[in-house]
Amino acid sequence: MRYISLREAEPGMVLANGIYDSLGRTLIGSNCELTVNYIQRLQEYGFDGVYIEDALSEGINIETVITPQVRMEGQRHIRECNIDGCLSVARRMVEEITSKGVISLDLTDLRSYDDYTYAHSVNVAVYCGVIGMGLGMNERKIGYLVMAGLLHDLGKLQIPADILNKPGRLTQEEYMIMKSHARLSYEIIKERWDISSYVKSAVLHHHENVDGSGYPYGIDGTQQTIFTKILHVADVFDALTAKRPYKEAYTPFEATEYLMGGCGIMFDKKIVQTLLTYVPLYQKGTKVTLSDGREGIIYENFGIHNLRPVVRLMNGDMLDLAEEQYFHITLASQRELELSAEEAERGRSEMIKPLQRYRIMIVDDMKTNLQMLRGILEPLYEVILIKSGQQALMYLKKNPYPDLVIMDIDMPEMDGIEATRRIQELTEKTVPVLFVTALCDRETVLVCRELDAAGYIVRPYKPVYVKAEIKRILTGRSEIE
Ligand SMILES: [Fe+2]
Repeated sequence: MRYISLREAEPGMVLANGIYDSLGRTLIGSNCELTVNYIQRLQEYGFDGVYIEDALSEGINIETVITPQVRMEGQRHIRECNIDGCLSVARRMVEEITSKGVISLDLTDLRSYDDYTYAHSVNVAVYCGVIGMGLGMNERKIGYLVMAGLLHDLGKLQIPADILNKPGRLTQEEYMIMKSHARLSYEIIKERWDISSYVKSAVLHHHENVDGSGYPYGIDGTQQTIFTKILHVADVFDALTAKRPYKEAYTPFEATEYLMGGCGIMFDKKIVQTLLTYVPLYQKGTKVTLSDGREGIIYENFGIHNLRPVVRLMNGDMLDLAEEQYFHITLASQRELELSAEEAERGRSEMIKPLQRYRIMIVDDMKTNLQMLRGILEPLYEVILIKSGQQALMYLKKNPYPDLVIMDIDMPEMDGIEATRRIQELTEKTVPVLFVTALCDRETVLVCRELDAAGYIVRPYKPVYVKAEIKRILTGRSEIE
């Protein structure tokens, strides 16, 4: 089987697996032929793509980590807020995950808009289990993780749908309601004697960051259990790769970049590394373009083939890129990924289209740093480049204030902290400040908090992460809720 986006779907193509709605009802059965009508309906339901079976994809078996039955059952119990049901499904999931010798997160789960929370919870449970296994945990601990994954967002069932799915900016009040879901999830399970306290605390703290900037309590990594940290990474990875009414789906490549960019700020590095060992660079059954112009689909990506996959060309020939004679061929899917990232970015900024174009002031004494940020941000925002704190102050006295200041902390003469203090005085704290730092230490975190900074990014940063942070600050809408 192979994955195609719905845009490429054509009548007559044969579906590799069935497609279900959030109640577990079959929308289209496996081995069904697509029709114009079906394609249209899938689009309306918010599906991105489908798995099809054709001659080109013959012999490509994409193994799911858990069976569709267990997945559907899990979704149903979550929808019904049936805790006993969730616990029994968790046990079956652990069995299925641990009985597999080799795990690869090849299968992009197909999901529609309306069942987001249910499908998301099952996915998160799978990722949690996979990370636990990767860390060499025993079955009991993997069980805690899977359970926490299934239960972590139950509180969302109590949040009004118009807030959950609101395409635009959330008001302060709406955001508070949104954030209450972690505590609500905890409330639902806290009296259960048969659920471990590890599970309960992971559920309560699944939005806490390792630097202490998360919610509900703002506890840092030293106060979090390993279960909490794993659930947090799993949750964000799945949220990023999902399409939501207010954002496009990140490609696995972009989601990987985001997780790496957030290491030490939001996430524990070791856990991110563990998850990423199971996320293939090139997913089986997806289309790639080779540097010589030929096209094909990924046939094998395991082990050495993760970097140099085996590709089945459109004429059916196999090409093992790990063989020395083909070393000169590069996979142009990188370019393709960038193109699709650009496309996704366009879609994303479309969705949050501001009334005016946002203006961002970047203050950094290093020319190369300024240029790098300009390269990332200029397609999206109006960018003002400033070389020192003094200059920034002068600019602000004569010009309208920008919507955001990105400030390098370490600068000669006036450092970024002093410059920020003076800017805040001048602007009466009306302009949010995002710090850039080379050091991700306790002191930086404390300074940011003391100055009420909107956040900070650590050099060398990941463009995907930087863009997401800026969007969060400007629109009040995080990509990962
Ligand atoms: Fe959540």
